[in-house]
Amino acid sequence: MKPHYLLFASFFALFFACQKKYDLPSIAKNTDWKSKTISPYPQNLTGNPDSGFYFLTNGAYLGSGIPYDLMKKRVERNREKFAHKSGLASEYGFAIFETIQGVEVMNGTCFSCHAGKVNGNVILGLGNSLNDNQTNLTFPAKLMNWRVRKKYKNDSMTIAAFEDFGNYFKLMAPYIHTVNPGVNPAARIAEACMRYRNPVDLSYTSESQYDVREYNLASDIPALWHMQKKNALYYTAVGRGDFTKLLFQASVLGIKDSTAARVAQKKFVHIAAWINSIEPPKYPAKIDFKKAALGKQIFQKKCQGCHGTYDKPETYPNKVISITKIGTDPLYASYGSDSRIVDWYNKSWFAQSNPRSWFEPERGYIAPPLDGIWATAPYLHNGSVPTIYQVLKSNSRPKKWKRSKDSKKYDWEKLGWKYKDKNRGKGVMTYDTTLPGYGNQGHTFADSLSENYRWALVEYLKTL
Ligand code: HEC
Ligand code: HEC
Repeated sequence: MKPHYLLFASFFALFFACQKKYDLPSIAKNTDWKSKTISPYPQNLTGNPDSGFYFLTNGAYLGSGIPYDLMKKRVERNREKFAHKSGLASEYGFAIFETIQGVEVMNGTCFSCHAGKVNGNVILGLGNSLNDNQTNLTFPAKLMNWRVRKKYKNDSMTIAAFEDFGNYFKLMAPYIHTVNPGVNPAARIAEACMRYRNPVDLSYTSESQYDVREYNLASDIPALWHMQKKNALYYTAVGRGDFTKLLFQASVLGIKDSTAARVAQKKFVHIAAWINSIEPPKYPAKIDFKKAALGKQIFQKKCQGCHGTYDKPETYPNKVISITKIGTDPLYASYGSDSRIVDWYNKSWFAQSNPRSWFEPERGYIAPPLDGIWATAPYLHNGSVPTIYQVLKSNSRPKKWKRSKDSKKYDWEKLGWKYKDKNRGKGVMTYDTTLPGYGNQGHTFADSLSENYRWALVEYLKTL
């Protein structure tokens, strides 16, 4: 090839590579998106929290999984160490259970993402932000399928007990590695898996039902106790209607079809009851109550209109703030509104059978409840800000920051994760806020406060 052809070829290769990398939804500038209040939807409150916790940890709602036979040696030697090595905060993060075929399998539970650690203590319901999901799992997923299928006969019960999990794991694997640490690709997992299900009966289809974007956008993990106050789930309030269906949706990976789904979904009445019963963790260190009282006055003036009040009886306005007003990174909201999973979901068993749940994305973010906020670092929907102090002072937020996976590296003053500024390179546990969707801008409501008032506000937030 002549040199100028080569140049052309590389130009096109580069062009397409860039196109692929920046395959992002457009963010309209002149929007008339309005902030709005989400109304409540009647929920089934007849569940039993203890049964809910039992179901959450015994794993039977997961349907299928990896044959336990293959994992036994490693897991039994030291469950805690196994959990730690797998990036889980607690051994509740995985379950070993018997499938309907009578085969023992292993799979990740809700606590693989919804159990976190602060200062060495496991907190159930806290998002696990200490995990780094930047590794591409495409090859490991293929390898696992190959290993299982090689070891067991094609028509064996073990293959039947593995098949749904194995198939969906392989299908989603290319889409879930993140470009930053600490953030979680749950929304992408849903997008990538539902894509190969017939919406009516949830059965596997070999042809994809819709396209997904190449660029992987992930989010922080909200604390589960927020659900007690919320009228809609998820950062963009996209999850509407019956919560048991929405909760179940998160574990549909290993489920065969709508018949199995109906059985599993019934358990979620109890799982919802457990989530409604948990308390946010109390701040474990000293609080200066005089300073906090001053902070409360500032909160009442500047914050409670969006975040609610915290004296009994507590109030919470359920407001979604448009991306133009909140000013935080708009991509996650645009991406969610643009995703083809919305149509799929609203045509599906989830929306078409009772109790109904549906997706209604907003171009904005819900102003979250702030209960237990001291423990839920990093902050904002994309986990781009390491401490609360920096949420309240936008020009102090680091552009690129590196932290450790050690939950004891907690900043008791600014409330959040200790970190180091990092100017060059990336690597493990380094968060780069210049990547699309991971910006740390916006939420400037406390910028104009004096330092004295800002610290008072931080002190008050410790009490919530
Ligand atoms: C792979 C990690 C992962 C697993 C497993 C997972 N979740 Fe989540 N969950 C997330 C993430 C990330 C979000 C936030 C997504 C968003 O808002 O766009 C979320 C959101 C939620 C919310 C909404 C909270 C709020 O404030 O709006 C609830 C409730 C919830 N999950 C419950 C569950 C339950 C119950 C299970 C198990 C059946 C489960 N999740 C499994 C990662 C996970
Ligand atoms: C106009 C409504 C509005 C006002 C006023 C407001 N907030 Fe927020 N706040 C939000 C929204 C919306 C988010 C979520 C933004 C995101 O994730 O992108 C948020 C996020 C936060 C977070 C991070 C929550 C988390 O879990 O990541 C904190 C902390 C917070 N606000 C505190 C405050 C304080 C303190 C004040 C008063 C100085 C305040 N906010 C004023 C709407 C508001």
